[in-house]
Amino acid sequence: MNISELNIIIQNRRATPAQFFNGKEIPDDMLNQILENANWAPNHKQTEPWRFIVFRGDAKEDLGNMVFNLVVSEYEKGNKVDPGKADKFRKNVQKTGAVIAIILNRSEDELLPEWEEIAAVSMAVQNMWLTATSMGLAAFWATPKFINLLDKVLELEPSQKCLGFFYIGKTNMDYPSPGRGDMNEKVRWVD
Ligand SMILES: Cc1cc2nc3c(=O)[nH]c(=O)nc-3n(C[C@H](O)[C@H](O)[C@H](O)COP(=O)(O)O)c2cc1C
Repeated sequence: MNISELNIIIQNRRATPAQFFNGKEIPDDMLNQILENANWAPNHKQTEPWRFIVFRGDAKEDLGNMVFNLVVSEYEKGNKVDPGKADKFRKNVQKTGAVIAIILNRSEDELLPEWEEIAAVSMAVQNMWLTATSMGLAAFWATPKFINLLDKVLELEPSQKCLGFFYIGKTNMDYPSPGRGDMNEKVRWVD
């Protein structure tokens, strides 16, 4: 493998907001490759704690509507949730090619501390993100507050938790990078 190609993929990976996606669908073979690479993430004790729910086509609209209605009803009950954010979600999902709910699946005996399992799921998401980048697709990890309310909508098991939504889509723009601070300030070398 060529290191400069890898550098380009890593450094050109962007969090592109879904409002800049053009709503075109993603072919199944691309989605399958993205998910297959997620499955190769490192994980401790082979728990493979990542689960994904892929919403495409009309299912995206159904998801947006279900989430919006739920958040409005929680708001009306006095819960501190923002229907505006759910409305934004409903509109955003329509702009994507696919929405993937990112699910943490805790092993039954909770072999590992939760943070290790979240780390493994995050690495699976990075695999998806880099694969999507290499395919010229845009992607975004959204973590709206209301994800804690979605267990029923997403039909999660008690041992599962939604860690957000991964939007994948096609875009006509190169979303700018916020850049990064100097790496040297984040590393201490000990010789
Ligand atoms: C765990 C995680 C959750 C994120 N959630 C959100 C979010 O809810 N809203 C948002 O605007 N960006 C979210 N982001 C994306 C970051 O804003 C984005 O990665 C950051 O601005 C750096 O931009 P870049 O990824 O294009 O370099 C999230 C990123 C991660 C890793």
